Amino acid sequence: MKKKIVLTGDRPTGPLHLGHYVGSLSNRLVLQSSHQQYIMIADMQALTDHADRPEEIRRNILAVALDYLSVGLDFDQSTVFIQSMIPELYELTLYYLNLVTWNRLKHNPTVKLEIRQKGFKEEVPAGFMIYPISQAADITAFKAEIVPVGDDQLPMIEQTAEIVRKFNRLYQCDVLIEPVAMTPEIARLPGIDGGAKMGKTLNNAIFLSDSPEEVQKKVMRMYTDPNHLHVNDPGQVEGNPVFTYLDVFDPDTEKVQEMKEHYQKGGLGDVVVKKHLLTILEKFLSPVRDRRRKYAENSREIWEMLFEGTKKASLQAKTTLKEVKEAMHIDYLQR
Ligand code: TRP
Repeated sequence: MKKKIVLTGDRPTGPLHLGHYVGSLSNRLVLQSSHQQYIMIADMQALTDHADRPEEIRRNILAVALDYLSVGLDFDQSTVFIQSMIPELYELTLYYLNLVTWNRLKHNPTVKLEIRQKGFKEEVPAGFMIYPISQAADITAFKAEIVPVGDDQLPMIEQTAEIVRKFNRLYQCDVLIEPVAMTPEIARLPGIDGGAKMGKTLNNAIFLSDSPEEVQKKVMRMYTDPNHLHVNDPGQVEGNPVFTYLDVFDPDTEKVQEMKEHYQKGGLGDVVVKKHLLTILEKFLSPVRDRRRKYAENSREIWEMLFEGTKKASLQAKTTLKEVKEAMHIDYLQR
């Protein structure tokens, strides 16, 4: 049986952290053997709001690829590629732009939110405004059937589905495949400050590339229950990120349950819980570091692996573009 096609993408704007692992990378590790998996490093999309910092994007392409390798993604099983190196994606974007109204774009909830978050005000780059269309090109070029994304990206998948339906109807074909979104079981990992979301710019992240010393420092200064002043005070487990992390990373659920009860009753100190969490996190991070070490010295090799993946991805994008132009009757040379 043919494996289903799945595609995900990351903007290379910084190193990946535990939140990325829980929400996305762990899922990709599962999918890489059961599905035909494409993983795109979306450098073009990163440029839509980082046009002044191409060097940073270049560095982060390598950092993100190294993060992939360090968690165990296999570049032979998954096709990992660089978005900007596939010009077919730009061409598809321009054709799709004519199928979407300006008004529809302006009302994309994710775009609206990001415009506010990024403080663009009236100075929104046009490239940024149309990134949902470019994302539709990413997804359809590879005929992705499943697109695992966080909640915030659901409007993008909806936009893509609309374009697919419109294209197939308008040009009376079934060239484009309508994708289905897949959202993660664990919506998001809180930051070490107890904030709802872990993020690089929020300064509350534990990175996959952090050293044992950095991880220790971060765990020891993690937010807990602010009212748990003395060991014997009863403590709160809900909204306490130390316990949320244990729920996610400690396979011994019985022990976690016992610790929670003890903490709620009083008599279990934050430092003891944090030390346990540190042991658990290190069990996860130590093999990640070992794999990282294997590749870190050889960035040339990583670039080569990315170019290999890009070559493979490019073949599929070319095929889709050819079909798209045929369906539109603009394949002039072939006629
Ligand atoms: N917009 C996505 C993000 O910010 C990244 C992305 C680009 C993407 N192209 C994609 C995700 C295609 C899924 C499919 O995380």
